Amino acid sequence: MPQIEGYATWAEVDLGALRANLRQFARRQAAVMAVVKANAYGHGAVPVARAALQAGALWCGVARLDEALELRRAGLACPILILGAVPPSAYAAAIADAISLTVWTSEQVAAAVAAAQQAGRSARLHLKLDSGMHRLGAAPEDVLGLARQIHDTEGAELEGVFSHLACAPDLDPNPSLKQQHIFQQVLGELSAAGLRPTWCHLANTAAALRWPEMDCDLVRIGLGMYGMQPSEVLDLGPGLHPALTWKARIAQVKVVASGEGIGYGHIYAPGRDETIATVSVGYGDGYRRRPGAQVLIDGHTADVVGRVSMDQITLRLPEGAQCRPGDEAVLIGRQGQAEARAETLAAAWGTINYEVTCGISARVPRLYL
Ligand SMILES: Cc1ncc(COP(=O)(O)O)c(C=O)c1O
Repeated sequence: MPQIEGYATWAEVDLGALRANLRQFARRQAAVMAVVKANAYGHGAVPVARAALQAGALWCGVARLDEALELRRAGLACPILILGAVPPSAYAAAIADAISLTVWTSEQVAAAVAAAQQAGRSARLHLKLDSGMHRLGAAPEDVLGLARQIHDTEGAELEGVFSHLACAPDLDPNPSLKQQHIFQQVLGELSAAGLRPTWCHLANTAAALRWPEMDCDLVRIGLGMYGMQPSEVLDLGPGLHPALTWKARIAQVKVVASGEGIGYGHIYAPGRDETIATVSVGYGDGYRRRPGAQVLIDGHTADVVGRVSMDQITLRLPEGAQCRPGDEAVLIGRQGQAEARAETLAAAWGTINYEVTCGISARVPRLYL
């Protein structure tokens, strides 16, 4: 890591941890789709996808066409499914690169067939069923007709059928069980008509951890691979560890006198002389402006005080902590015995861990260990 001394803030991604996490899911009956959308939840799509495939994932899942193309351009030859909507005018670009598309209307199927002719190869399609999330997907009663349309049309292949759970990490299992029931009913209809495709998939990380019986042919794993917790009420269990550490360098350490305001707007003024460390990270890096977060310094937990600015934050140095300009502060990760998890930062910011790591901006270099 030659440039690290020059970095103000950076993220270290432990690909060994990521592979170990993925292997836990790859031991199952079902194949694993590594969900690497949104730059692999901020971890870096291409290195994460490569590591996941090495560790036994068969598929990569993304949300957008450009994310799929990024993987192909990097030389990844694995099956890739775009889980989200692609404008039909761009179908041909996906089909030309053997990227599988998600569809849920008859018009989309027709557009995919036309694009397949243009691209000179068959369109690989996954039908999305709306089993209760009511975001994307066909109504249960429409899936069989769509499957038949794909089956009866040259130039398109029904490769998969899938649905997504709305409440998988929540305490109450009933909404998920209801969705699973609807999913299974639709698969039953498809089987009876001889139209069940090879890849039927429903489970995300939370469902894979809670209900192995939901696995089907494929499980779509995001959070679990990154070692992040699905929710406050659903722990990852042993053997899954966070892969990402986010660090920033201390720029200055100074004593600020009692009554003096710190940072923009002087929203914080210490009631006694306090040692303040200024750290080179800010909202330009994805560190939220909302107050209440904590950072690790010298193995101690320090409060962020004053406003978060674009490139800097100010911390109140806790009793016993020593630091100098150039030292590392840990925003997410471990330092000595102390740990700052993406989940803790999310709680301070009133959000979820997904948003914290997805929000680490492009300005923050990612280093791979
Ligand atoms: C359709 C779909 N499947 C699977 C996943 C992976 O979910 P998780 O990160 O909870 O494993 C996502 C993530 O949001 C998704 O949108």
